[in-house]
Amino acid sequence: MTAYKIVDHSFDVVVVGAGGAGLRATMGAAEKGLKTACVTKVFPTRSHTVAAQGGIAASLGNMGPDHWTWHMYDTVKGSDWLGDQDAIEYLCREAPRAVIELEHAGMPFSRTADGHIYQRAFGGMTQDMGEGPPAQRTCAAADRTGHAMLHTLYQQSLKYESDFFIEYFAIDLIMEEGVCRGVIAMCLDDGSIHRFRAQAVVLATGGFGKIYYTATSAHTCTGDGNAMVLRAGLPLQDMEFVQFHPTGIYGAGVLITEGARGEGGYLTNSAGERFMERYAPHAKDLASRDVVSRSMAMEIREGRGVGEEKDHIFLHLDHIDPKILAERLPGITETGKIFAGVDLTRQPLPVAPTVHYTMGGIPTNYHGEVVTLKDGMPDTIVPGLFAVGEAACVSVHGANRLGSNSLIDLVVFGRATGIRLGEILKANALQEPLAKDSAVYALGRLDHFRHAEGTTSTAEIRLDMQRVMQADCAVFRTDRTLSEGVGKIDAVYARMKDIKISDRSLIWNSDLIETLELDNLMSQAVVTMHSAENRKESRGAHMHEDYPKRDDANWMKHTIAWFDGWGGNWPKSGVKIDYRPVHEFTLTDDVEYIKPKARVY
Ligand code: FUM
Repeated sequence: MTAYKIVDHSFDVVVVGAGGAGLRATMGAAEKGLKTACVTKVFPTRSHTVAAQGGIAASLGNMGPDHWTWHMYDTVKGSDWLGDQDAIEYLCREAPRAVIELEHAGMPFSRTADGHIYQRAFGGMTQDMGEGPPAQRTCAAADRTGHAMLHTLYQQSLKYESDFFIEYFAIDLIMEEGVCRGVIAMCLDDGSIHRFRAQAVVLATGGFGKIYYTATSAHTCTGDGNAMVLRAGLPLQDMEFVQFHPTGIYGAGVLITEGARGEGGYLTNSAGERFMERYAPHAKDLASRDVVSRSMAMEIREGRGVGEEKDHIFLHLDHIDPKILAERLPGITETGKIFAGVDLTRQPLPVAPTVHYTMGGIPTNYHGEVVTLKDGMPDTIVPGLFAVGEAACVSVHGANRLGSNSLIDLVVFGRATGIRLGEILKANALQEPLAKDSAVYALGRLDHFRHAEGTTSTAEIRLDMQRVMQADCAVFRTDRTLSEGVGKIDAVYARMKDIKISDRSLIWNSDLIETLELDNLMSQAVVTMHSAENRKESRGAHMHEDYPKRDDANWMKHTIAWFDGWGGNWPKSGVKIDYRPVHEFTLTDDVEYIKPKARVY
């Protein structure tokens, strides 16, 4: 193996990722006096949080009656009863405080006439424990809420004493006897290798939407932290639950916010029919995302799609006052023009369900501590390791996330993680020296790919992976598609041994970084497909046509999946699957456990 020179660092806390969750955790840890580093592969304000549009959910009640228990009810129902209710209680109770904190930090929210934070309707958000009309709960900064939030958090984070390592690619965790002791990263600018020793590592590396061909996710959404966790011999949770957002621009996959329907937009089929009235008579176009995406897919499947190929749907905003569009939805007005050539003040937008969010990820408790299933015991804490944001599976979103619950998840659990770190760590505590071979595993993997001399390019293998996922693990799934999908994705994975890298440099080598990212994506694609194949029911985003009903008696449980594809066994893909119970309890006596019932909108 090449002898790499290593630059050593020692911190109390190292956060990997600088999106909303990573920045909030960095701020929280630094605020507690912990020596904190934030290692990020992109400049913080380019993290994918910047792309979030419609808003952040909190029961402020600025536009009508609301209560955090109603938010909790909607989130539990939205999750199709796979969410853990202790964590959901924490999320919804803390949400208003987290939004006010952002407001005080200078986040430029849109305003009502009397100066309050503007809130819009979003899918699945209702009043009165699902019995009342839609709740306007989603706090918005026009349709650029993520952008406003990320810039606010980054500006705030600069006032704390934390060190940013920007454009550093995290390669692997340093694990010693089940304890996380740091992370190995590479500086993209000069190719230098950095070993970060820490009392705790927080993974805030985002989702893994790029396992699919068409996704609203940025190219950087490769779930690097999730893959590090798999390579550390730890499991991921509920990976089969992948959210399709109803309105990605047809062909381009670019997001058109659910806020468009929250402001009065609606969907039609080739007959000009507002078909959501048939599928969700109450909530109509504002049913939860899994329901709307499935309904659109049904319309297309039954020949009522629009366009030459009858393979998409129209979203209408042309009936809304152009002044309102300019004020509340300026971003998508522009996006519609650029990516669909449509003036949405006059024409409908062509849209299709598009991969948007990955509910699964690194299992954690509501303090952000990573947990595993060990010797049959669920919720066993992995010392030194935390995860937040889309990388984590707390699980507040269960089988389906409600729109605008992701931004609130980032700040509530980012903050909770900072609080926990402050409770359990002592600033500048003495840390044992790392084992001599602490970088060998990470650098062995780097070296392997850097010198890969096969015949297939990274781009070819990535395309094959994305096509298999898109074809066989999409909105509708069957025993046949999933079992074929398992065979196909395992075969694509095996091709990793034939990968070819043409550039051996360590400096700004996109071929090498994309290959490491592909390796990260690949293990998650394999685990997603296997987890989906194993779940014989329909729940939330996992619609299994051979088992069309939710089956609480047998399947109200979280999938826990390990991947044994690297190290001695590489490149074999060995997936081991187990399950752990859903938390059927709340955090406090203030609320009762919400019992499962039929989920209709
Ligand atoms: O539709 C949207 O604006 C996306 C928001 C979300 O995913 O929470």
